Amino acid sequence: MTDKYFSTGKTKLGVIVSSDRAATLILRTWEKKFNRVPDVVVVEGPKAGGHLGFKKVQLDDENFALEKIVPEVVVAVKKFEDKLGIKIPVVAGGGIYDGEDIYKLLQLGASGVQMGTRFVATTECDATDEFKNQYIDAKEDDVVIIESPVGLPGRAINNDFLKAVKAGIKHPFSCPWKCLRTCDYNVAPYCIAIALTNASWGNLTNGFAFSGTNAFRIDKIISVKSLIEELREGFINAVQKYGELPMATSLG
Ligand SMILES: Cc1cc2nc3c(=O)[nH]c(=O)nc-3n(C[C@H](O)[C@H](O)[C@H](O)COP(=O)(O)O)c2cc1C
Repeated sequence: MTDKYFSTGKTKLGVIVSSDRAATLILRTWEKKFNRVPDVVVVEGPKAGGHLGFKKVQLDDENFALEKIVPEVVVAVKKFEDKLGIKIPVVAGGGIYDGEDIYKLLQLGASGVQMGTRFVATTECDATDEFKNQYIDAKEDDVVIIESPVGLPGRAINNDFLKAVKAGIKHPFSCPWKCLRTCDYNVAPYCIAIALTNASWGNLTNGFAFSGTNAFRIDKIISVKSLIEELREGFINAVQKYGELPMATSLG
């Protein structure tokens, strides 16, 4: 069920992009082919956890920083908003740690933020304590970039499994899924889907934890309620420090 450009059903469709170019390409293609556009565009920067939509050399290049790409994507999306007379929220993600970070991204034109790493270290997160403890125990140097078997860089917490893979040890597997064309299971050193599932179940001997750059800053598991309160407080402090946001944004 769709009306013009937006779905009217309960399920909303969002896309994740890493550049204004990708946003424009996707929106233009959807509009042309399907007569609709995404309900939300998530811009994920190079500090995010998991698979990253950047080349390895771009990860520390300030031209690809989240603060640089968010305004560019906002401009790209606005062209479609103006043309179609609709609002398409742009949500920023990757390395957002506190309320002041949220404030800064909203200041740059984002309508909201997407946070992963902070919510892993909450009581409500359904990963095992072993997985969450990887975050609690991690030092800054433990958060590393890996070359995922699917052909993308990924950010994860280093452990013996990853060190063994780097040293050339393989974990052969038969693949019933063939989930991504870019993953050649005949030569891949391990199956990333299996490794990530093992880790979430607490088996870190045969897997590893994805995380954003900021995992090492986390030192305890807290409830989602406390986390939201902390973020809200930090956001309000940032408003007091830097001034109201131009648009009517409120976490109150
Ligand atoms: C443990 C973990 C697993 C993730 N898995 C996925 C995934 O399966 N698909 C995806 O699009 N993004 C995934 N992400 C990325 C998050 O959705 C999010 O955009 C990103 O982590 C935001 O950065 P932050 O973790 O620094 O807040 C994952 C992130 C983490 C930390």
